[in-house]
Amino acid sequence: MSSRPCLFVVLAAGKGTRMKSALPKVLHKIAGQSMLAHVLQAASQAGGQIAIVAAPESEAVAAEALRVAPGAKVFEQVQQRGTADAVLAAKPALEEHSGSDVVVLFADTPLVGPDVLARLRGALDGGAGIAVLGFRPEDPTGYGRLLLDGDGVLTAIREDKDASTAEKQIDLCNSGVMAFRVPDVASLLSRIGNANAKGEFYLTDAVAVGREAGAKATVVQCDADDVLGINTQEQLAAAEAVWQSRARSLAMANGVTMIAPDTVWMSFDTKIAAEVTIEPNVFFGPGVTVESGARIMGFSHIEGATIGAGARVGPFARLRPGARLGANVHIGNYVEVKNVTLGEGAKANHLSYLGDGSVGAGANIGAGTIFCNYDGFNKAKTEVGEGAFVGSNSSLVAPVKIGSGAYIGSGSVITKDVSPGALALERSSQDERPGWADKFRIMMSRRKAAEK
Ligand code: UD1
Ligand code: CA
Repeated sequence: MSSRPCLFVVLAAGKGTRMKSALPKVLHKIAGQSMLAHVLQAASQAGGQIAIVAAPESEAVAAEALRVAPGAKVFEQVQQRGTADAVLAAKPALEEHSGSDVVVLFADTPLVGPDVLARLRGALDGGAGIAVLGFRPEDPTGYGRLLLDGDGVLTAIREDKDASTAEKQIDLCNSGVMAFRVPDVASLLSRIGNANAKGEFYLTDAVAVGREAGAKATVVQCDADDVLGINTQEQLAAAEAVWQSRARSLAMANGVTMIAPDTVWMSFDTKIAAEVTIEPNVFFGPGVTVESGARIMGFSHIEGATIGAGARVGPFARLRPGARLGANVHIGNYVEVKNVTLGEGAKANHLSYLGDGSVGAGANIGAGTIFCNYDGFNKAKTEVGEGAFVGSNSSLVAPVKIGSGAYIGSGSVITKDVSPGALALERSSQDERPGWADKFRIMMSRRKAAEK
C-alpha cells in the first residue's frame, strides 16, 4: 500500500430524482446504513483525509457525513455543472493537501471497498498520473467508455451520450472512481471544458486533458459488483442483495452455520461468532452481537441486542435495542425483549413482553408474563431476582422488584415489591361446587327436550 498521504473527494451533490423520494439519494440505506456512510467508511479504512461535496442546503447529508467521518470537510457545489465542477468545489481541500494523492469517489457507488481503493492507488505507485477504476458490466449502456490505444494505454473516456456507434461497442467502462497523482489536480481539472452533449464539465475528460500535459493514465479493473451505481430503488435493492450475499459468505467463512443463507439478513455492523447456527428467515438490524454456540431459530427479528454464548432465541422471537442476553439464556416464541438484561441461564420461553429492567440468572419467566413498563407518560423498571419463578400470565407493574428465589403465582398482577424467597399471589381464591356440572347438564337437556 502506498505511503503517500491521500485526499478522498466524495461527490454527493446529485439530486437523485430517479429515486422518487424526498430523502437525499445518498442517505438511502444499504444493510441499515446510508450509502454515504458506506463510502466514507471505505475511505477511512483506506486511510486519508476526506472532503465531501454536497448540494446547497443539504444539512442532512452534511450531518450524516460528520457523524461517520468527524474529521471530514464538507463543501457546497452551488450549481450542478458536472463531476469535474463538483471536485473543484472542494478546491480549498485540494490546495491544502497539494502533493497528496487524490481519489474521487461517488457517494452513490457504495460497494467500493478499501481493498479495491488500495489496488487503484497501487497503480499510481507504478508512475501513472491518473488511475481509473474500470469494469465490464453485462450491459455497458449509459456508462462512460474507456478508450485504449493500440498499446492498451488509456487515452480518453467517452461518455455514453457523446460516444460514436463504434465507441458504444466498447464494453470496458468507467466506474467513476478515479485516482490522481499530479502536481496540481485543481489546475488540471480547471482546464476541462463543457463542449459535450450534456454541456457539463466532465471529470472523465481529465484523462485526455492530463495526457496533453504528459500525465499517463491507466486502468485498474474490478468486478462489476464492486462499483454498482445507484440511481433507482431497484438498483438500491440490487446493491443490497450484493452486500448481503458478501456478508453471508464472510460469516460462513468465519464458521457461522446458516441453513438457508439467502434468507438471513444482516446489518453493516452485525457480529456473529463462529459456531453460531442461524436457522432460515432471520433478520439482524443494526447493533447485534451473537456469541459462540448460540442458536437463532427461524423468523426471529433482532436489533440492538447482544446474545450470549450458547443462548437460544426463537423461533419467532423479537429482540429490540438494549436486549442483553447472558450465556445460555432461552428466549422462545412470541417473546419480545427491549432494554432488559437477562442473567445466565434465565428463560422466557413463550408469549411474553419484557421491557425495561433485568432478569437474574436462572430465573424463569412463565408464559404470557408482561412487564407493564409504561403508564402513558413514563417508563419504569421491573427487576426480577436470580432464580425467581414468575408464574404464567403474570403482570409485573413497574417499578417493581421480585426478590431472588421468589415465586409469583400464575395470573397475579404484582404492584408491590416481593421479598426474596416469598410467594406472592394476587387473585381471588377458588370456589368449588361439588356435583354442579352434572346437575347443570341434566337440567339443560330436560329444558331442550321440553322445547321440542
Ligand atoms: C458518471 C461518469 C461515467 C461513469 C458513471 C459510473 C462522468 C462525467 N461520468 O456518469 O463515465 O460511467 O458515472 O456510474 O463523471 N455529481 C455531483 N455534482 C454534479 C454532477 C454529479 O456531485 O454536478 C455527483 C453525483 O451526486 C454522483 C456522481 O457525481 O454521486 C456521478 O454523477 P452522475 O450524474 O450520476 O454521473 P453519471 O451520468 O452516472
Ligand atoms: Ca450515476
